[in-house]
Amino acid sequence: MQATLNICLNMSMALARENPYGIELVEHDGFFYQPRSLKDVMNMKTQFKARKDDVFVCSGMKTGTTWLKAIVASIMSESKSHVLKEKGVHDLVYNIERSYISRSMPNANTSTIIAEMPSPRLLSTHLPYSALPPQITSLGCRMIYIARNPKDTFVSHWKYLPALQAVFNTETTAPVSKEVFFDSFCNGASLFGPFVDHVLSFWNPSRRQSNILFLTYEDMKADSLSHVKKISDFLGQSSLTEEDIRYIDSQCSFQSLSTLDVNKNGKTTYKNANVNNRSFYRKGEVGDWKNHFTPEMSSRINLVVENKFQEAGLFLKYEL
Ligand code: A3P
Repeated sequence: MQATLNICLNMSMALARENPYGIELVEHDGFFYQPRSLKDVMNMKTQFKARKDDVFVCSGMKTGTTWLKAIVASIMSESKSHVLKEKGVHDLVYNIERSYISRSMPNANTSTIIAEMPSPRLLSTHLPYSALPPQITSLGCRMIYIARNPKDTFVSHWKYLPALQAVFNTETTAPVSKEVFFDSFCNGASLFGPFVDHVLSFWNPSRRQSNILFLTYEDMKADSLSHVKKISDFLGQSSLTEEDIRYIDSQCSFQSLSTLDVNKNGKTTYKNANVNNRSFYRKGEVGDWKNHFTPEMSSRINLVVENKFQEAGLFLKYEL
């Protein structure tokens, strides 16, 4: 009996060491969350008061949220991109679940700030469509979702794990083995994952509902200018000139954003940890997965995602 217990304890310690996030994620309604934040996310769902003219940037982890936020913030701001020089993108566009999670923390008044923001508000969320506060969907708020191919998303997420471990205040920030994280990712146990279900949770309704604009990182990289125009049309910003659109596109490029002082040297506060803004800008390319994937990894991820995406009529690009 004692021997069995010891084996179990040893096994669970081994699992804990191999946990890519340094904490066990918890599953709720089919998606994975940071345990400490789940209660706050649930409270937020019932307390968040949406307004019909709210605009949401929606995304899974590491799919181009920062880029999309910068573009939409520039389109909706009268100063057209100058705002990007003043604040890090994630302090410019608040994430609704972060605001509730952080309530008693250093950026404690974020949810009050959101409640007092003038309309139209620009906000963001990593929640899957099914977990959104119900008012957002019932009022038909405009949502812009950015998807990215799973291989580049995986690499970007894996490289971002040390920053996440700091946010989660784990005791160790030891590097996480690619294999361990790949296993979790393919099994669906990644933050706000499973990856496939998150993407489809927005893709499916976007095919019927005109209030959801579904974009992909790869298409945006291939032709960012036409996407800035598309987003501006979706938001009904008819006053923007062609020159404005070009300016916003260039100011939001990887090269331009990543070299702004606020993004090279600034920090964003999460709970009681700071994340260096530069960690939101790594390579900004399509196809970096080729530098990290073995043929076996590639086949496994194809198996996990491709059938489901193809059935749903979704085809993501892996190179340009
Ligand atoms: P890589 O890690 O592949 O470089 P998110 O903002 O959702 O966390 O996604 C981060 C990814 O978007 C990172 O990808 C980051 O480099 C990339 N990124 C950030 N700003 C970008 C921009 N202006 N243009 C293109 N990619 C950008």
